[in-house]
Amino acid sequence: MNRIEFSRKTHNCGEIRVENIGEEVELYGWIHRRRDHGGLIFLDLRDRSGLIQIEADPDISEEAFKNAEKIRNEFVVRVNGSVKKRPEGTVNPNLPTGQVEVKAKEIKILSISETPPFEVEDQIEVDEVLRMKYRYIDLRRFEMLKNIILRHKVVQEARDFLNRNDFLEIETPYLTKSTPEGARDFLVPSRLQKGYFFALPQSPQLFKQILMVAGMERYYQLARCFRDEDLRADRQPEHTQIDIEMSFVSREDIINLIENLIKKTFSLVGVDLKLPFRRMTYEEAIKKYGTDKPDLRYGLEIDELTKLFKETEFKVFQSCIKSSGIIAGLKIKSLLSRSKLDELTDWIIENGAKGLVWMVKEDTGIKSPIIKFLSNEEVKSLEEQMDMKKGEVLFIIAGEKRLTFHLLGMLRVRLAQELNLIKKEEYKTVWVTDFPLFEYDEEEKRLKTLHHPFTKPTEDTVNNLTDKPLKVKADAYDVVINGLEIGGGSLRIYHPKQQKKVFSLLGLEDKEILEKFGFLIEAFKYGVPPHGGIALGLDRLVMIISKKATIRDVIAFPKTSSANCPLTDAPDLVDEKQLKILGLRLS
Ligand code: AMO
Repeated sequence: MNRIEFSRKTHNCGEIRVENIGEEVELYGWIHRRRDHGGLIFLDLRDRSGLIQIEADPDISEEAFKNAEKIRNEFVVRVNGSVKKRPEGTVNPNLPTGQVEVKAKEIKILSISETPPFEVEDQIEVDEVLRMKYRYIDLRRFEMLKNIILRHKVVQEARDFLNRNDFLEIETPYLTKSTPEGARDFLVPSRLQKGYFFALPQSPQLFKQILMVAGMERYYQLARCFRDEDLRADRQPEHTQIDIEMSFVSREDIINLIENLIKKTFSLVGVDLKLPFRRMTYEEAIKKYGTDKPDLRYGLEIDELTKLFKETEFKVFQSCIKSSGIIAGLKIKSLLSRSKLDELTDWIIENGAKGLVWMVKEDTGIKSPIIKFLSNEEVKSLEEQMDMKKGEVLFIIAGEKRLTFHLLGMLRVRLAQELNLIKKEEYKTVWVTDFPLFEYDEEEKRLKTLHHPFTKPTEDTVNNLTDKPLKVKADAYDVVINGLEIGGGSLRIYHPKQQKKVFSLLGLEDKEILEKFGFLIEAFKYGVPPHGGIALGLDRLVMIISKKATIRDVIAFPKTSSANCPLTDAPDLVDEKQLKILGLRLS
């Protein structure tokens, strides 16, 4: 299709080139910079496409020159003029439009601007809350604009890819019932049914499954999801998912589809991801990296040392093994100062460890505060198993299994950052599979699902559902890139009986099951196809493609880490009248 041309604006500022010399142009944009050279005024005019230099010369237009004198940064103007080659010596090689300029015949000020709270420049050091309060100014910076454009392209690429693969884009409601994805719900009071609440969806999980029952076969949606949870650099209270569900497919079909989709989106920035992605079981990920989202751009693998110390006389290790704990270590190839070792020890203890043992290999052998408690054989086996070389440091933690791996995983990430071990240019993709279906929540003293309760147990472990539920594996898969969980999905339960069984293992009473999920169980009575799906976190995907450190940089209007919007000042108080209409009263 031909582009629709607009009658007034003849060119985008950043697209004018030598080929346009001699053309009459009408340009619109913001004044990026103004330089007064006495007899001449130069203006950098900016729009979404880039910058172009405008020259206001009183000999060409007295009036344009007078207006240029009044102009300040961020005024919005219209410029009519002709494109000229820049004189020798004034070419700017850093600008795509640097060989040309526009001699103004007319400059019209369309709107004025106060001095902005910060400069519209790429490299600025400005408090992020201020940037968010004046987001419309922040978004004028090319660096931010680039992220917004990339996000748009990723969305278009995903839509195009899914459309070509026979998916239907279907919207599901935002005013709905709670979906259990593990976070708290945002609630919306109903005016017409006082005392009742909608929940904003944590994901469209239940609707997309019902769409499969409805025979849609292949569904996707760019779905906004709402989760009231503590925020981090990669989390927002509302995020967007590329949400997908398919019927009559295998886990491999879904994985293959998603790998190709992710590859397409990375090709937008010239990165050629190799397929297939690596696979790793949950158990391997935890044991080697202490997390189910390992960053594989560096080594630093964890080693379990429990066996080595099974006969130890060292009381700390001995009592740990007796109480079914583990001992595990992590080795780095560089020496650290004593104060750094102390700092790391304090940090690990603050995070829940009983202690952090370090061992340094020196010319004379191993040096460590615990060396006197270990036998010569133990030290020798340790040196052998960990292949300790001079100048290397081994960290050891003893404790409860999950916590110990988790803490060593944290230490691994911190050391990789501090020792500059991360190959920043690389993208390391991995599917993590074979998650346990349940984990035991010590606080609540009950089983919880690692994903959500609709995840299908694997065929080879489903028999344990009644007697040993913690041994049941989930037919689930998470896709991780550079240590960031980009997406997660699973094959779903499609037998009403099995679904009820999982609910009851989670401690839900029949009445509660009926109230919360009765509609799903009901739908499952009327011919449900085997189905499965996945959701990719769009914000995280764009964040990683653009190598940003926070998802806030790839969201036009994000919230702060305390879940506020500094631009609008939301959340806000509401007046009594509004509460009354909703049948609410604040305590
Ligand atoms: P899950 O909860 O794993 O799965 O979410 C899918 C992906 O969404 C992204 N994500 C987030 N991004 C930003 N801020 C958040 N608060 C946030 N929470 C999640 C992550 C994550 O991998 N219904 C299932 C999917 C399925 O089974 O099909 C679900 O929502 O990248």
